[in-house]
Amino acid sequence: MESGMQKLVVVSNRLPAALKKEQGRWTVNPGSGGLVTAMAPVLKNRGGTWIGWSGASDPDVDVDSLLADFSKEAGYELCTVPLTKEEVDGYYFGFSNEIIWPLFHDLQTRCRFYPKYWRAYLDVNFKFAEVVARKSDQDDYIWIQDYHLMHQAFFLKSMGVKRNIGFFLHIPFPTPDIFMKLPWRWKLIQALIEYDLVGFQTIQDRRNFVGCLQRLMPEARVEGRGAVVTVHAGNRQFRLGAFPISIDYNQFSDLAKRPDVARKAFELKEALRHRKIILGVDRLDYTKGIPERIRSIQTLLRRYPDLKGRMNFVQIAVPSREEVGEYKDLRTEIEQLVGRVNGEFSFPGWVPVHYHYRNLPYDELVAYYAAADIGLVTPLRDGMNLVAKEYCACNNSEDGVLVLSEFAGAAAQLQKHAYLVNPYDMDGIAKGIHRAFHWSKEERSLHMSKLREQVRKNNIFWWVDSFLQAGIAKTLGDFPEVET
Ligand code: ADP
Ligand code: G6P
Repeated sequence: MESGMQKLVVVSNRLPAALKKEQGRWTVNPGSGGLVTAMAPVLKNRGGTWIGWSGASDPDVDVDSLLADFSKEAGYELCTVPLTKEEVDGYYFGFSNEIIWPLFHDLQTRCRFYPKYWRAYLDVNFKFAEVVARKSDQDDYIWIQDYHLMHQAFFLKSMGVKRNIGFFLHIPFPTPDIFMKLPWRWKLIQALIEYDLVGFQTIQDRRNFVGCLQRLMPEARVEGRGAVVTVHAGNRQFRLGAFPISIDYNQFSDLAKRPDVARKAFELKEALRHRKIILGVDRLDYTKGIPERIRSIQTLLRRYPDLKGRMNFVQIAVPSREEVGEYKDLRTEIEQLVGRVNGEFSFPGWVPVHYHYRNLPYDELVAYYAAADIGLVTPLRDGMNLVAKEYCACNNSEDGVLVLSEFAGAAAQLQKHAYLVNPYDMDGIAKGIHRAFHWSKEERSLHMSKLREQVRKNNIFWWVDSFLQAGIAKTLGDFPEVET
C-alpha cells in the first residue's frame, strides 16, 4: 500500500481465488466474472485486504494454507469467511442466484421467493459483518461489492461498529415496477441507505434506485447534479453515484502485443483459414443471450448465403454456477443449438460454429480477442459487460467491429462507436453482423480507435479513483460526467 493512503478493505462474496474439488483434491483456481477481473488490479496496485468466501464449504479443508501462496504472490491480504453447505445453499444459490440475480436482470419469472433464502441471506450477511468488524479499524475504507452483501452497513451499525463504508452494485438496478415484486423490498432499501456511498454502473441504474426509494419513502430528496448526488431520506444523508466499471486497459493491450500472444492470434486465424472470425465470450449464464446469439448466426447464414464458408462464429463459454439446474439446462440448450446450426450448414472443410466450454488462460483468451474481426456481445441485460471493453483493448490493429447489446451497461459509454443491437431481435443482429462485414477499413479504424480511447481513458484506475474520491471526500467537488 502506498504511504499516506487509507487502507482499503474490499468485501465480496467471491475472492479472486476460488477453491474447487477436482477428482477428490482441492485446487486453487482464479475466480471468474467481471467483479474479480475488475477488482484484482485495484488491490494489486493499492494493497489492502480482500474478505470473501473461498468457494469451499467443507469444514475439513485448510483454506488458509491453500490460499497462502496466492495471497503472497498477489501482494495483498486474503481473509476468508467460512460458510457451511446450508449457508451456501440458502444465501448464495438461493437468495443471490435465484432471487436477486434474475430479478435485477429483469427476469422475474425465474425468481423463487422462498422466505428461507431471505433468512439465510441475513444470517450470512451478519457473519460477514462480524469478520469485517474484526479485520478492519476505524481509519480504513470499507468497500462492499455486489448484491450478495447488501446488508453489511446495516449490520455493522447494529453492532455499534463505526466505519466509512461504500457499496458498489456490479449488476443492474431494476425499475420500480420490477423491484416492488421483491417481498423484502422495504428491508433492502432500508439496508442500502445505511451506506455512506452507494455506487451503480450507469446513471439509469441510479435513477431506478431513486425511483424505488421514492416509492417507498416519498419524502426522500435528491440534491445536486452530475455523476454523484446527495440523498436525504428520513434521518439519513448519503451519496449516490454512477461509476461505470472498467478494465486494466494496458494490461490487455500489452498482452495482445506480446510476440507469443500475437503469434497465437495468427495461428488461430490460420487454423480458421483466414475466414472472418465472429467472437462471443461469456460466463455461461442465461442473462448473456447465448442461445439467441446462436440463432442469430443461423438467421445470418439463411439470409445471407454468400457468407457460407467465409466466416466462423467462435463462442467461448466459461463454466459458471454449474450446480444450479437452470445453468445445466442452458448448457444443454446451447450444445443442442450448436449441433443444429452446424448440422444445417457445415460442408467438408467448413463448420460454422466453434464452441468451447472451459476457462481459458488469459493469454489464450486475449489471442482470440486479437484475432476476431467482430466482437459479438449481446447480453439480454448486463450491469456493464467487461468482455466488450476487453475486446476493444486487445484490438491493437483497430480493425475490428464491436456489435453490442443496447441492454448492456457498456452501451451507455460505447454507443456512439459500437454497432448497437437488440439482443432479442435475431434478424436485427444478423443484419448488424452483415453490415459490420461491409464496413470499410477506414470506418472500422475510426470507430475502433474511438472505442479504445474511451476504454483507455476510463479504465479501472479511473473508476477506483472516482469511487474513492466520492466515498472519502468531505465535500463533493466536480465529478467527471459519465455518459448516460
Ligand atoms: P460477468 O461479470 O457477468 O461474468 P463480464 O463480461 O463483465 O460479465 O465479465 C466476464 C469476465 O470473465 C471477463 O473478464 C472475461 O475475460 C472473463 N471470461 C469470460 N469467459 C472466459 C473464459 N472462457 N476463460 C477465461 N475468462 C473468461
Ligand atoms: C458477476 C457478478 C459477480 C460474480 C460473478 C461470477 O460478475 O456480478 O458478483 O462473482 O458474476 O459469478 P459467481 O456466482 O461464480 O460468483
